[in-house]
Amino acid sequence: MAYNLLKGKRGIIFGALDENSIAWKVAEIAFEEGAIFTLSNTPTALRFGEINELAKKCNATVIPADATSVDDLTHVFTESMKILGGKVDFILHSIGMSLNVRKKRVYNDLDYNYLNKTLDISSISFHKMLQVAFKLDAINQWGSVVALSYIAAQRTLYGYNDMADAKALLESIARSFGYIYGRERKIRINTISQSPTLTTAGSGVKGVGSLMDFTDRMSPLGNADAHECAQYCVTMFSDLTRKVTMQNLFHDGGFSSMGMSLRAMNIYDKNLEQKLNGD
Ligand SMILES: NC(=O)c1ccc[n+]([C@@H]2O[C@H](COP(=O)([O-])OP(=O)(O)OC[C@H]3O[C@@H](n4cnc5c(N)ncnc54)[C@H](O)[C@@H]3O)[C@@H](O)[C@H]2O)c1
Repeated sequence: MAYNLLKGKRGIIFGALDENSIAWKVAEIAFEEGAIFTLSNTPTALRFGEINELAKKCNATVIPADATSVDDLTHVFTESMKILGGKVDFILHSIGMSLNVRKKRVYNDLDYNYLNKTLDISSISFHKMLQVAFKLDAINQWGSVVALSYIAAQRTLYGYNDMADAKALLESIARSFGYIYGRERKIRINTISQSPTLTTAGSGVKGVGSLMDFTDRMSPLGNADAHECAQYCVTMFSDLTRKVTMQNLFHDGGFSSMGMSLRAMNIYDKNLEQKLNGD
């Protein structure tokens, strides 16, 4: 059911790769809620992904950009304003990648060139996006910018590797730029910290199957899926959340407030019993 939450709003959605992507679901719901927007991803993702299919469905134009390039981002913002007929009201940063994770370099054996890339792609691109938009005055008053984060920014989770540091930086950028944008433009900047989700990026996390089972058992409401995450993003783009800014908002079924749950304890007990009997 649509509520016309984004009627008359213009936006830019970065990071839709395929139908599993969180950004893909955000585009679908934003379209249903009456928004017009452009889509952006890297030229490689455009070649291998299915973004044109999404663009067709949502009447959106696709603008290729490497989000680590200030020139590319400047092009995305100027073109988007031309295509959409004015400044934008919302932006989604749904971008993350670690070459250390991809190449199976563990945290105590990081390749530092890869680490620089991880930070540039997954966090500094958010600063670049915000700085380019600020200089171009590309966002309307009461506009809303959301980037996607993960709880590894606050807590150590086995296998999340250098993406944990990237997410900590991403959340810090949201606060630092959120202050400036709030003070000078009345624009809000937030991060949404999502449950583990089966997407291309999510599948790269070491032991993602066990992790998702664990977080689901630990969360009183269960894991949040990509569609639910997209619904929350759209709420944050709407006028119903105008005074929320500089926050890291957990969208994780309650996981972030738990220490131990009955469902997780049951599994642990079973394994412990087997182990004690076997010893
Ligand atoms: N999947 C999860 O478990 C999970 C949980 C919490 C947060 N997140 C975050 O959600 C966001 C979206 O990820 P997803 O899970 O939808 O996976 P995804 O793989 O579908 O999306 C990641 C996107 O980043 C894009 N990207 C990579 N390098 C880029 C660059 N240089 N410039 C522009 N775009 C680039 C990819 O092309 C892809 O579209 C990421 O920030 C991710 O860290 C994911």
